[in-house]
Amino acid sequence: MSAALEVRKLTRRFGDFVAVNEASFEVRRGEILGFIGPNGAGKTTTMRVCATLDLPDEGDVLIDGVSVMERPREVRQRLGFMPDSYGAYVHTTITEYLDFFARSYGLRGKDRARMLAYVKDFTGLGPLEGKLMTALSKGMKQRLCLAKTLLHDPALLILDEPAAGLDPHARVELRELVKALAGLGKAVMISSHILSELSQICTSVAVIEAGEIRASGTVEQVVRMARTHHQQVFLRALAPLEEVQKCLFESPGVEAVRPEKDGVVFDFAGEEDDLARLLRRLVERGLAPVEFAPKATNLEDVFLELTAGRVQ
Ligand SMILES: Nc1ncnc2c1ncn2[C@@H]1O[C@H](COP(=O)(O)OP(=O)(O)O)[C@@H](O)[C@H]1O
Ligand SMILES: [Mg+2]
Repeated sequence: MSAALEVRKLTRRFGDFVAVNEASFEVRRGEILGFIGPNGAGKTTTMRVCATLDLPDEGDVLIDGVSVMERPREVRQRLGFMPDSYGAYVHTTITEYLDFFARSYGLRGKDRARMLAYVKDFTGLGPLEGKLMTALSKGMKQRLCLAKTLLHDPALLILDEPAAGLDPHARVELRELVKALAGLGKAVMISSHILSELSQICTSVAVIEAGEIRASGTVEQVVRMARTHHQQVFLRALAPLEEVQKCLFESPGVEAVRPEKDGVVFDFAGEEDDLARLLRRLVERGLAPVEFAPKATNLEDVFLELTAGRVQ
């Protein structure tokens, strides 16, 4: 089965400036892809192309196998896009707002009533339905925008920084809504420049920086990749420190050895079996290792290492 969203070597330039450079990644049904990168990395630009609001200079985006360039109208039926900012309509209640968009999606009669009731219920807006849009809190406005995005029951949701500006409580609620949507079998792409907002819910990630995808795949794949690339290990041995350091310096994959507490910490580049070989070597040389602990790598470490907080 084709991916719900497949971004293929997408490039978007503004004049000479390359905002997105040959980005490729995909999102499957039921998956929540965290699209993570610092401000100016190219997240919104990428999402706008996916949502048919902009065209790529090179490459393509396929939604359920349908190209955004060749059949944008068909694509729009299948996706819901929540932009990073949107205005509030004056003198318009929640119900009026949703009804307006449901009509423009072509929903009629009972179908429209059923869908309105469903999205209001799903987002918890039911009790507020008569309220004016201008009177809503940021969190409630976000919910309303999400409700609107769900009206035509899209299989793919593209949410651009939906948690920005929400208080911690509203953030938790938003996460629950996103999880529930993935549970319904929808594919969700959600962006943020703050990884911790997404790390608890996303099942896969694409890390973007300066327009380039630095890593993508399931959370496990990305963490494993980064670990292979570089990890820190704490070692404590009974042999004198100099001997331990000497052995480490001679071992392949070991970089930057430094004393820490009653042992040493070193950087290691290699696979897990390389690490096992190193431990065996320490034992065979009679250095008596008593603690050998790779520091746990998590998504936050990977993100920091990949992006180094650079801003474009
Ligand atoms: N319409 C545009 N014209 C010129 N430059 C743009 C335009 N849109 C975005 N950019 C630039 O492209 C880069 C990526 O922007 P954007 O995709 O909005 O990043 P993000 O959403 O990750 O913060 C930024 O440097 C931004 O200034
Ligand atoms: Mg943005």
